[in-house]
Amino acid sequence: MSRDLAEPWLLRDVEIPTRLVLAPMAGVSVQAFRRQGKRFGAGLVCSEMVSCAGLHHGNEKTLGYLRLSSEEKPLAVQIFGSDPSVMAEAARMVEAAGADIVDINFGCPVRKVTKTGAGATLLEDPDRACRIVAAVAGAVDVPVSVKMRRGVENGSRTCLEVGPRLVTAGASALTLHPRSAKQMYTGFADHALTAELVELVDVPVIASGDVVSRAVAQRLLDETGCAAVMVGRAAQGNPWKLREIIEADPAEPTRDEVVAELLLFMRETARELGEHRAHGFLKKFYGWYLGQGRFHRQLKQEVVVLPTLAAVEERILREAPGAAALLEELEAEHALGDDTLLELPISAYGGG
Ligand SMILES: Cc1cc2nc3c(=O)[nH]c(=O)nc-3n(C[C@H](O)[C@H](O)[C@H](O)COP(=O)(O)O)c2cc1C
Repeated sequence: MSRDLAEPWLLRDVEIPTRLVLAPMAGVSVQAFRRQGKRFGAGLVCSEMVSCAGLHHGNEKTLGYLRLSSEEKPLAVQIFGSDPSVMAEAARMVEAAGADIVDINFGCPVRKVTKTGAGATLLEDPDRACRIVAAVAGAVDVPVSVKMRRGVENGSRTCLEVGPRLVTAGASALTLHPRSAKQMYTGFADHALTAELVELVDVPVIASGDVVSRAVAQRLLDETGCAAVMVGRAAQGNPWKLREIIEADPAEPTRDEVVAELLLFMRETARELGEHRAHGFLKKFYGWYLGQGRFHRQLKQEVVVLPTLAAVEERILREAPGAAALLEELEAEHALGDDTLLELPISAYGGG
């Protein structure tokens, strides 16, 4: 029987309202991104990976600290590290801050992370990986999930050996991005492995990698038996992609809608990271929002060199004056609420 993308499912005892999950992406999944993902149909959103190492010594690469709010719920917070007791301590903080799920990163392929024994490299040290999951699951009441790659080497099937062991150790769900760490983002995600993993474990499996359309999402649900699909890059600067996947009959955004969403995103990000950091952070988003054939090419080049966020706002509003009224409506409807700031640093590294 075909599963409905818009139906709820359970991750242990946490009800997730749709089968669409917004991917954790370092340098992207700030609170504004997660809040937006929720509005556009993601049933579950996930913070980018936060470093447990930051618990004990300062991390200069830090972009800021994790900010959570009740409007993001259900929310998964992803942690990475290599020491079981430090990971357990971080998990307790994450739970106390209000996360509904603690997610563990065994997927990050970036050298700065793997050389510390964290991320995808843990797939090659399954005993330690299991100790981490057991320590984290033993430390919190909320469910613990793990996100992993297929393995480190190209063609690896390690996820099929390690996955079931992680479940035995206490994982209540597994997300598989079936590329190897070596592959980074090249080639394609081999979801035949996702189907195999689904057969091997009795917890929900979330399929990540190359979900770019409703057709792909539905095919993955039907052919792999996964509980949900995760969308990452396709949602960058394009929350309408989530709506397209979740609703059968999506409408293309108007230019005013695109600009209103970008401005809301900019304002929320400035509040989250501070004006100075947000200014640099947001540059890649201008291309994502204003590209895709929506605006003339020079616009992005023009805005990335403007000195302040106010100047960027003013410039792009000139291209879509109707966005001002839409922005006001959005801000009134989605007022920012209660936030908890967590003493865990957001990593500035690439993710997994
Ligand atoms: C810029 C970027 C940052 C990422 N950061 C993380 C991360 O912090 N944690 C993680 O588990 N995966 C991370 N990923 C991997 C994504 O969550 C996802 O598994 C991958 O991009 C494949 O999905 P996609 O094809 O829908 O993008 C990142 C991916 C990208 C492109």
